[in-house]
Amino acid sequence: MTGSRLLGTGSALPERVVTNDELAARIDTSDEWIVERTGIRQRHIAGVGETTATLATSAARAALDDAGLTPADIDIIILATATPDNTFPATATKVQNALGCNGGIAFDVAAVCSGFLYAIATADSLLKTGMGSRALVIGAETFSRILDWEDRTTCVLFGDGAGAVVLAAPEPEAGEDGDAPGVLATRLHADGAQHDLLYVDGGPSTTQTVGHLRMRGREVFRHAVVNLADVLNEVLEDAGISADDIDWVVPHQANARILDATARKLGIPAEKVIVTVDRHANTSAASVPLALDVARRDGRIKPGDLVMLEAMGGGFTWGATLLRV
Ligand code: UT7
Repeated sequence: MTGSRLLGTGSALPERVVTNDELAARIDTSDEWIVERTGIRQRHIAGVGETTATLATSAARAALDDAGLTPADIDIIILATATPDNTFPATATKVQNALGCNGGIAFDVAAVCSGFLYAIATADSLLKTGMGSRALVIGAETFSRILDWEDRTTCVLFGDGAGAVVLAAPEPEAGEDGDAPGVLATRLHADGAQHDLLYVDGGPSTTQTVGHLRMRGREVFRHAVVNLADVLNEVLEDAGISADDIDWVVPHQANARILDATARKLGIPAEKVIVTVDRHANTSAASVPLALDVARRDGRIKPGDLVMLEAMGGGFTWGATLLRV
């Protein structure tokens, strides 16, 4: 059976833009180093009153508008985030209340940078089994609030933002036709043995603090290229297609060099890879839906295109989803 269909996308970014030069004025770094090693030129940073929930709500409203729907049409909200407004309740319930569509399913998914992939897979499964008819799937983060702003090896890499999609339950008559729009194949993985390469050094049950992000970047980089190439090949095999058949890759935006290396490994031309890391930096779970929305709105991704979403992050967790839009 073809999977859930994409009805609309939306995104939201904090107003404040912070350039590399602005960071270089505060810590021992430079625009040249950041651009050369990561491709990042700027990031958006949440201001007073902007939270994961407010960004998620704005992105959700934009996705609903794009889909021509209202909050009343939504019965599932899944929010992928590692930076919730509160330890509990789930930030998804704040979004639900802000939209005014209380009563359905709403919960958060914690899989860090691949959270949106985990959320899409969860929503697709719930929709396929009839638990709801339309889902808002959101990735939203305020990583600026868990960064150690004295640590130049991490603080230059991340930004804040949110992206959202509206998914609808599969059309029963869509059958097995690979040309029908919908989620076609998904693979998810996790490897808890890699915890110490990328984690936050605090939490309610350990330190009773929020903590700061810690990363051994070089090692994460090495794992990312291998894991992403592997999972992309698995999804291609599941779908019975080759890399040449893909119209667009919408990757997690951690580092332009990871995007290049992964695409090269699979033989996918760079022109087919959507890149927003230069403008948004790494927005964790928000990065894939943000990039998807950018590329739909600027006309690159069109109805009927075959789009591969992929991400890898803390845990480690990683995954990929093939979607006909
Ligand atoms: O979203 C979750 C997944 N996350 C990722 O995928 C991130 C993966 N990792 C990366 O993107 C890269 O490894 C980084 C961008 C984090 C680092 O790039 P790198 O080319 O691997 O650099 P490095 O860590 O090997 O550091 C090279 C040098 C070091 O100096 P020494 O030891 O060679 O003297 C660092 O101290 O660059 C130094 N350095 C900096 N210099 C200026 C590290 N951060 C900075 C900085 N400005 N901000």
